[in-house]
Amino acid sequence: MARRCFVAHPRVSCVTLATLPTPLEAGGKLQSGANLWVKRDDLTGLGVGGNKARKLEFLCAEAIDNDATCLVTVGAAQSNHCRMTAAAGARLNLPTHLVLSGEKPKNLEGNQMLSAMFGAHLHHTGLAASDWSNLELARAELTEKLIRDGQRPHSIPIGGSTAVGAIGYAVAFDEIISQCSLQNFVADAIVFTTSSGGTHAGLVAGLVRARANDPQKVLPKIIGIGVAKGVALNTNRVVELANETLTLLGERANATIADVIIDASYMGADYAIPTQAAADATTWAAHRGAWVLDPVYSAKGFSGLLGLDANGDFGVDSNIIFIHTGGLPSLFVMH
Ligand SMILES: Cc1ncc(COP(=O)(O)O)c(C=O)c1O
Repeated sequence: MARRCFVAHPRVSCVTLATLPTPLEAGGKLQSGANLWVKRDDLTGLGVGGNKARKLEFLCAEAIDNDATCLVTVGAAQSNHCRMTAAAGARLNLPTHLVLSGEKPKNLEGNQMLSAMFGAHLHHTGLAASDWSNLELARAELTEKLIRDGQRPHSIPIGGSTAVGAIGYAVAFDEIISQCSLQNFVADAIVFTTSSGGTHAGLVAGLVRARANDPQKVLPKIIGIGVAKGVALNTNRVVELANETLTLLGERANATIADVIIDASYMGADYAIPTQAAADATTWAAHRGAWVLDPVYSAKGFSGLLGLDANGDFGVDSNIIFIHTGGLPSLFVMH
């Protein structure tokens, strides 16, 4: 099922899970006079869509190359990454185990309801949503148990943020740049929500690769809006992951700390704790373009874009791309 993906690198395997390219929509003017563009990665298709489809195309190819008999991954109770891994497992006929925070709810809602619908096994740990290190330990324990039971699990860390997963966003960077030239503009910045750092690292790897190929080309700033303390609000980690990704892509050029911008000032108290700015950004986006943002990820990311614009960070007539990374199912969770 895995095939070689020559878009990334001749040695990199990829399975088709996402509907690509996703649209790049014109979003009109921001308050400052900058032009807004929305990259619709909420429309990647797989299991109702989102950014993780791009990572899973490479992570699942790795699983198939390794002859895995099942997938294992981990996340918060309403993890989009877990739901999309469950969808990938269904598409590829690989039983999928999800290690989740929280207790088993009486009724499954949102992402958990969909994960169960895709046939995944849900392992509720009772851990807090932001207890990332113990959630990762629980994933390691489950992986070992599956090995003892004779399985060959492909075990994917939180958010799918390995160098292999990040290749998906190095490829997305190229996709965005070619859509910009088709639509006759040059992007000044790409803004998106960052949490486990794989989306960010992949975009930075794409940027560094493009710069190495054409040092004269004007390339956008990559701006991640952080939404979770203690995961990857760590610039050094994103640089490291981007450089591991570049190595997999056979690229000699390196990312540096100057390539990685993480703005954590729109997170509020911590992961999944609502902010007024995110609620306002949700209304703004819904009224402007019928873009549906979620309170945990995309609304905080978009509130960052609007906040940077209000602070005067973007020039008049500059072109600012927001990557809508998805998150729709958590809108339908009642508590
Ligand atoms: C909707 C949504 N947006 C953004 C992100 C952040 O992506 P990353 O974990 O690659 O930083 C996630 C991660 O789970 C997500 O579900």
